[in-house]
Amino acid sequence: MAKLLTHSIIAFIILHASEAINPPTSVLDLSDKFLEVKDEGMWFVEFYAPWCAHCKRLHPIWDQVGHALSDSDLPIRVGKLDCTRFPAVSNKLGIQGYPTILFFRNEHVIDYRGGREKESLVSFAKRCAAPIVETIEASQLEKVKLSSRSQPSFVFFGDSSGPLFDAFNTAANAKFSIARFYSVSPIQNDSSFRQRVIVLKDNVEIEFNEELDKLTEWVVRERWAGFIQATSSNLAEIGASGKLVVLIVSSETQKLNSSSPIRDFHRTAEDASKELRKQPSLWNRFQFAWLDGPDLASQIQMATVSEPHLFVFNYTSYEYYLSEDEPTQMTTKSILTFLEQTADGVDNETIFAFGGRHLITRIKRMIFELYWNIAQMFATQPLLSSCLFGVPIAFLSIICYSICSADFTVDRDEFYGDEDELLDDEDREEIELPETDDDHEKAE
Ligand SMILES: *[C@@H]1O[C@H](CO)[C@@H](O)[C@H](O)[C@H]1NC(C)=O
Ligand SMILES: *[C@@H]1O[C@H](CO)[C@@H](O)[C@H](O)[C@H]1NC(C)=O
Ligand SMILES: *[C@@H]1O[C@H](CO)[C@@H](O)[C@H](O)[C@H]1NC(C)=O
Ligand SMILES: *[C@@H]1O[C@H](CO)[C@@H](O)[C@H](O)[C@H]1NC(C)=O
Repeated sequence: MAKLLTHSIIAFIILHASEAINPPTSVLDLSDKFLEVKDEGMWFVEFYAPWCAHCKRLHPIWDQVGHALSDSDLPIRVGKLDCTRFPAVSNKLGIQGYPTILFFRNEHVIDYRGGREKESLVSFAKRCAAPIVETIEASQLEKVKLSSRSQPSFVFFGDSSGPLFDAFNTAANAKFSIARFYSVSPIQNDSSFRQRVIVLKDNVEIEFNEELDKLTEWVVRERWAGFIQATSSNLAEIGASGKLVVLIVSSETQKLNSSSPIRDFHRTAEDASKELRKQPSLWNRFQFAWLDGPDLASQIQMATVSEPHLFVFNYTSYEYYLSEDEPTQMTTKSILTFLEQTADGVDNETIFAFGGRHLITRIKRMIFELYWNIAQMFATQPLLSSCLFGVPIAFLSIICYSICSADFTVDRDEFYGDEDELLDDEDREEIELPETDDDHEKAE
């Protein structure tokens, strides 16, 4: 009965679907009835507004995503919902910007924050729809290891019971959208086999050895490969790992230039990120990432940063720490020493933190960003920017000029005529006073 109801609701939703002129689409046009069915099965939904340019650009891609997913035989329904027509839905789901892309799976809502290409959207949906913990044979482990080089996987070894398995399951249920989880059954006569949880990444395995209730936190902390690219869209997520981010400013093009100091520095930093693994106390606190070009770093530091450069960044507090060494002089060892000092300094509160989220810093940052964006506009679109800023400024100047240089006496003369010579600049206020007999006489 409930199923029948669901079907009729879905049928009702589809009623709104594309008209005959549009080519057939596998994207459902949803209405506010969506709220009643969102927890049933899996949904991948774009929330949009008709006037939003990003949404318009996404629509054709979204249709392709719909086709790709309907071809894949996964039980994912792809839909889109016009938030201007159904504001109740966007209010209920707390949608703030357009387009917002959400995946719904059994009461979990997963926010999509990646790029807007078909491939990444489809692979995200597939990852969200995959079994939360995939059971594999020990022989399949090698394949998982290979695919985990750049995208870490979490693996549980042992019988599917006991507190460690429960903790693993909890972590997987909470975080299945950000990482892959596998479970490997024990091999009967392998005496070295014991129950454990590891993460596979960067060609190594790292075992979880903290208290069980820390497992989810650990997953969030270890979900990134050792040295990843940070962008403005993933920096918040990297920062949410609970580690301080060691940001390397280099540039994609110079990484292959054998005569460039940027390349050497990038390699040194990469080595340092590998060395870090050997020092658990540092490993738990720092995540290496690199930025392509200095723009984002300049915005964080509110100053012009030149590559190569290294700084330690706390996304939560927006504070950052700088080394006294020139980046080009740094070695793997000196980077690690700097990190040790930073860790101690943060603990003992003896290190100076730049930036932050204080009111004054926030105002400074706003001004800097405004300045930065305008400078960027002029750098990339000089002609357009000149028109954009030049025309209003020219108008403003003309208006100002007219106001300042206007001959007010002329106006007054027109108002009061020639008869009253006494009213000059100093007497202006008197005009508003009620007329006295004296004035009358004077006027006469
Ligand atoms: C485990 O035992 C099976 C047969 O019981 C045998 O074929 C296999 O080689 C053994 N494996 C190991 C690792 O000893
Ligand atoms: C970042 O700063 C905040 C506020 O000072 C602090 O609570 C947090 O632990 C810091 N994050 C890291 C990863 O150290
Ligand atoms: C490579 O690096 C050198 C030294 O910094 C620089 O002068 C040169 O322009 C770079 N080459 C390219 C293709 O960017
Ligand atoms: C900071 O504290 C650590 C212990 O947490 C201590 O070993 C270290 O000497 C302290 N550093 C300074 C500069 O006080």
